Amino acid sequence: MPVAKKSSTRTVTALIDELVSALLGTDVHHSNHPQVQETVDSLQHQLLDLTHQLGQDSLCLAVLDDLLVFQDKPLLSASLSASRLIRSLGNLGASGLELHAGATKEHISSLLEALAGPRVSGQDFRSVNALLSGQGCVDIKLHDPLSLGDKDVKPEAVSSTLGPAARVYQTGIAILQDMTVDIGLGRRISLDMVRNHVERMYELMQTQDGPLMNLASYEQDDAFTLGHSVRVTVLAMNLACTMTEDVETIVRLGNAAMLHDVGKALIPLELVLSRAALEEDELIEVQKHAEKGGEMLMDHGADPLAVTVAFGHHRLRHEGGYPHTRHKYMPSTGTEIVKICDVFEALTANRPYRPRMLPPDAYRVMLGMKGHFDQHLLRCFIQRTGLFPAGQIIQLKSGEIARVIKQSNSLDEPVVEILTSPGGDQLSESDHQILDLSAPSVEEVRKVEGVVDLPEVADDPNLNL
Ligand SMILES: [Fe+2]
Ligand SMILES: [Fe+2]
Repeated sequence: MPVAKKSSTRTVTALIDELVSALLGTDVHHSNHPQVQETVDSLQHQLLDLTHQLGQDSLCLAVLDDLLVFQDKPLLSASLSASRLIRSLGNLGASGLELHAGATKEHISSLLEALAGPRVSGQDFRSVNALLSGQGCVDIKLHDPLSLGDKDVKPEAVSSTLGPAARVYQTGIAILQDMTVDIGLGRRISLDMVRNHVERMYELMQTQDGPLMNLASYEQDDAFTLGHSVRVTVLAMNLACTMTEDVETIVRLGNAAMLHDVGKALIPLELVLSRAALEEDELIEVQKHAEKGGEMLMDHGADPLAVTVAFGHHRLRHEGGYPHTRHKYMPSTGTEIVKICDVFEALTANRPYRPRMLPPDAYRVMLGMKGHFDQHLLRCFIQRTGLFPAGQIIQLKSGEIARVIKQSNSLDEPVVEILTSPGGDQLSESDHQILDLSAPSVEEVRKVEGVVDLPEVADDPNLNL
């Protein structure tokens, strides 16, 4: 697998992710919470590194609709989990954010406090700038909408916007972020929002062939890893579609998948966000998310399926796993489906502490996890998701780059959309050919050569999310 280059787009994406994570932490606690301060510390260092790498003394992030833009380039990947930041800036009437290399931890904390929480009446980007400069902070500034088109971004230069699938994906993460904040603040949560959104996700999966599945394999180490729950939802509904035509059952399962890790909002922030290996007692604390999630959903009168999935998604088939129960416990089929999708997503997504696995390697690991999964369901999942899941970018032996659209009857010969010529030239969208690689007419030269590492292409507008 090719090694990803550390481009400035990727680095700025990592910085935005930290910023959103710190913002969520500030929303629930305060910017002086030790874990938020650790994130702020990391942010400060990333800002220094990035400005140094760019040879600039500052970094400007602009907001255009639901997208963050950097140097006239839409940051598709970063924007997916940044709607809370985008919304905060929008609420203040700001068109963007300017961060200078010299910004101190105190200045970044002041910014977080200004962006977090409900908007104070009369507060706008001007009053925030005045507040910041009153605190001696001249290194951070919110931008005037009129400055759009000046140094920040030329709207006409940004050709791309979030497509419908990415919008639905972004909203899913935003709903889970809002829920995390509500739980952290001891408020009641709105389960209807989740259920309604899962219905929208299901409808999208029906009307367009696989765009949400494309996003399910879209690499994203997002703040609080809430994208994980959205991706597990897509994978679970995709598998359920092969087992039943009953829409209510599929949506109920999607709803349960969206909520499976909701108990993590009740686990101390420093453990949820820890990038270091956890001590045994810390691990036990994190494992309580299953029980706490189940309990909380029951208290809220959630669908019993969501309660059982949240409670049982880390239990083994017969005994073992957690939470521990005195009585014999058989996970439901819904729980078994979510369990498979949960582990597959975790193995194939990038995490700060390890690189992602390719699907065939993840399947190998999962097939070796004795007693963990329902073997029949696991085989169905592998068949449905394939060796090259929808969204995977692959190279054909001819040299053409293609994107997997869906599975065929052959595990390693998916249906693809050809994106480039054999020489690597981008094809215009009207020239994108859809090809079933399992068809007898497809020559050997157009079989799969290997995968292209997604980070290199993740922010390419031609991916047309
Ligand atoms: Fe979990
Ligand atoms: Fe999970």
